[in-house]
Amino acid sequence: MNRSTKDELQATITDMVVPCKGILAADESSPTIAKRFAAIGATSTVELQRAYRSLLFTTSGIEKFISGAILFEDTLGQIAEDGTPLPEVLARKGIVPGVKVDKGKIPLANASGDEITQGLDGLAERLRIYKAQGARFAKWREVYSISEQNPTILGIEANAEMLARYAAVCQEEGFVPIVEPEVLIDGNHTLERCLEVSEAVIHAVFQALHRHRVIMEYIVLKPSMVLPGKEHPVKASLEQVAAATITVLRRTVPAAVPSINFLSGGQSPEEATANLNAINILFPNAPWALSFSYARALQQPALQAWAGKSENGSAAQQMLYHRAQLNGWASCGKYNSELEK
Ligand code: 13P
Repeated sequence: MNRSTKDELQATITDMVVPCKGILAADESSPTIAKRFAAIGATSTVELQRAYRSLLFTTSGIEKFISGAILFEDTLGQIAEDGTPLPEVLARKGIVPGVKVDKGKIPLANASGDEITQGLDGLAERLRIYKAQGARFAKWREVYSISEQNPTILGIEANAEMLARYAAVCQEEGFVPIVEPEVLIDGNHTLERCLEVSEAVIHAVFQALHRHRVIMEYIVLKPSMVLPGKEHPVKASLEQVAAATITVLRRTVPAAVPSINFLSGGQSPEEATANLNAINILFPNAPWALSFSYARALQQPALQAWAGKSENGSAAQQMLYHRAQLNGWASCGKYNSELEK
């Protein structure tokens, strides 16, 4: 890799990894945003998607807690009410614009119950277009369901290979890759089972990244926290989640990686914030930043306040600001639940 590409990657990392700040994920694909809108009684149109994302990004002051935002590719070409391209709205606030580049998942052949994400064909060419639109980092998500048989060894290996090939192409094109292996919360598995699966998954991801010569200093890892399944009868305490999550990360993630930004994965906004805070309290001198890259846990209260109506715009922005602030504090271990009131 040439010097100028390395400098470009380092500059992006420096802008993205800032103490007490995290990433706003607003990269829902068209079917996913339609689902989110349906839940608030709104019909998804291209214009409503634009209006909603414009509302999120123009929230005054979020840059105090948000250093990067992940966009869906269509959003890169959209404009705010005043005509400013949405990536430019973010960049002017010092928020680095990024883009989700995977094309969603399909069943993985010969690994019943496992899935694999598509989108490598033409990735370098697409990245060049996204760069011209202002994106500086990318995101790719692989998904792992937990059952008695899943994920299989084949599933773990194949998904790791995909993440590594994506990350290598990104770095070659001057994009910082967010590497997202999501172990799903669905099911009735125990915390211990999630720990075991997460360890195997992240271990395989880093082996593959190494094999593909991905430079660890220029990636961001976006894992799920280690949690018992949603259907499991016993809920884990903050301390148990923090300890299990830290155990997995210490065993698997090289110290050269600058930042680990968790996804929220179906936790409530309050849980996602409290767990992040507990992780930072338990491990204050971690070699990596421990922050957030939440979609639902940042947006849900804002989405509900907005309800698809422009007159609710400022109420929605207040909700987003509040959650961004609380998560900003949690990412440096300075949150407490009293602040929810
Ligand atoms: P959630 O925080 O809603 O799990 O979404 C994270 C994500 O992957 C979007 O980029």
